[in-house]
Amino acid sequence: MPTLSDLAFRHTELDNVDLDWMHSLVSDWQLLADLSFADLVLWVPLRDGTGWIAVAQMRPTTGPTVYHDDVVGTVAAKGERPLIDTAWNERRICREGDPDWSSGVPVREETIPVRRPAEGAPGGRYLGVIQRSTNLSSARTPSRLELTYLQSASDLAQMVAEGRFPFSGEEPILVRSPRVGDGLLRLDRAGRVTYASPNALSAYRRLGLNADLVGAELGWVTASLCYGDEPVDESLMVVASGRAPRETEVESGGTIVQLRAIPLIVGGGRIGALVLIRDVTELRRRERELMTKDATIREIHHRVKNNLQTVAALLRLQARRLRVPEGREALEEAVRRVGSIAIVHETLSHAPEEFVDFDDIADRVIGMTGEVSAPEAQVTPRRVGTFGVLPAAIATPLAMVLTELLQNAVQHGFEQRSGKLQVIVSRGAERLDVLVSDDGKGLPEDFDLETSKSLGLQIVRTLVVGELAGRLSIDPRPGGGTEVSLTVPIPAST
Ligand SMILES: Nc1ncnc2c1ncn2[C@@H]1O[C@H](COP(=O)(O)OP(=O)(O)OP(=O)(O)O)[C@@H](O)[C@H]1O
Ligand SMILES: [Mg+2]
Repeated sequence: MPTLSDLAFRHTELDNVDLDWMHSLVSDWQLLADLSFADLVLWVPLRDGTGWIAVAQMRPTTGPTVYHDDVVGTVAAKGERPLIDTAWNERRICREGDPDWSSGVPVREETIPVRRPAEGAPGGRYLGVIQRSTNLSSARTPSRLELTYLQSASDLAQMVAEGRFPFSGEEPILVRSPRVGDGLLRLDRAGRVTYASPNALSAYRRLGLNADLVGAELGWVTASLCYGDEPVDESLMVVASGRAPRETEVESGGTIVQLRAIPLIVGGGRIGALVLIRDVTELRRRERELMTKDATIREIHHRVKNNLQTVAALLRLQARRLRVPEGREALEEAVRRVGSIAIVHETLSHAPEEFVDFDDIADRVIGMTGEVSAPEAQVTPRRVGTFGVLPAAIATPLAMVLTELLQNAVQHGFEQRSGKLQVIVSRGAERLDVLVSDDGKGLPEDFDLETSKSLGLQIVRTLVVGELAGRLSIDPRPGGGTEVSLTVPIPAST
């Protein structure tokens, strides 16, 4: 479906400032649709002057719709919908005429010209017409709620025609604003409640209100419920008295309520305000839970890392006591294996999500290898290319694999000699290619990866093929030395 901007640029004379106004109108006109129990369609004159194009549409959440199909993009010729022409030509709200039965249900049509204040144009600029269509088939004898809604809708419509709604310069709203159905209060000029919808009243009951809300001064009532004797937040008073178009949140007795004020300014004066009310206690509670869940996961990684470091320290102690060199070497190697897993958990304990920047981890593993190489062997391993961000499920095994491969190169490839050792990475959209390359003395004659019984390469094979569903090969490096190449698939989303 084409967007409002697409349609406006292609078919109408609206400029960027006009469009900003239209965008802020349609981002907020749910309110008008809900209060009117009516469908809204925004019509803008075609550039060639032959008629109208529908650029946006809104259905009410409070009543039945008139349009089961989308009307955005529809064109109406001049004269086809006389009420639109009249609202535009005479710059006024039109609500004359009998219900229209052409769709099979009675529909009341009204039209509201859309005006925006413009510098240098005293009357402002007219941008289009809102057609408001009410499906009357389910209309009942109006209750107090419906009468208040309709009166408020009519005030808002007047504000649209006078260029007072939407409110320019209102702070953008990040969370969903309260809607009419969430709870609605109507205030008079002095900020006293003249009507409270059942939901709004319930929200105030949960905040601790025992008395009647109608007749009370909302700012004062809210402040005494939520602040007691403490100093009152200024923005609360501005919102709860309905003086400025703004939102705030108040909390009392474990209940959190969002308030949004819509001052009603009709005929040049403030006649009162609407305050939309939404109980967001559950929403905020879930947000807090998610936050603590994150913190818990981080804490768990932190503890796992600590425990692994303790294990490594115990193994190191035991290694020192051993008189048999082979046994000591084996334990020292176990220390390094545990250490490389600990590095991943440490990184995860800082990251909020289950993703880690693996370059960081790789560099630390590489650094560890440099430390363990014999002092006379001048091996400074290097990383070429980047791993990028990887899910923890890949990072842990990969760190272990790297540890083993680098370890082998230093131990068997170079022994006492110096040489070049590189980890060459290339990250594709859905795979990771890693080459661990040394220019050492090369593999033994009878080497066979498949039949090798030693532990190191078995770990590597199990992790790469089994755990990471990747491929592994070990070959002599052209020009001398050994090359281990592995390919690991990674989920496209990371
Ligand atoms: N980069 C390399 N250069 C030369 N030979 C290598 C290289 N990598 C592995 N090898 C050979 O492959 C053999 C098997 O390696 P593997 O890592 O499985 O066992 P290991 O290193 O001997 O013992 P550990 O279980 O402690 O790792 C090694 O003993 C070595 O002969
Ligand atoms: Mg080894």
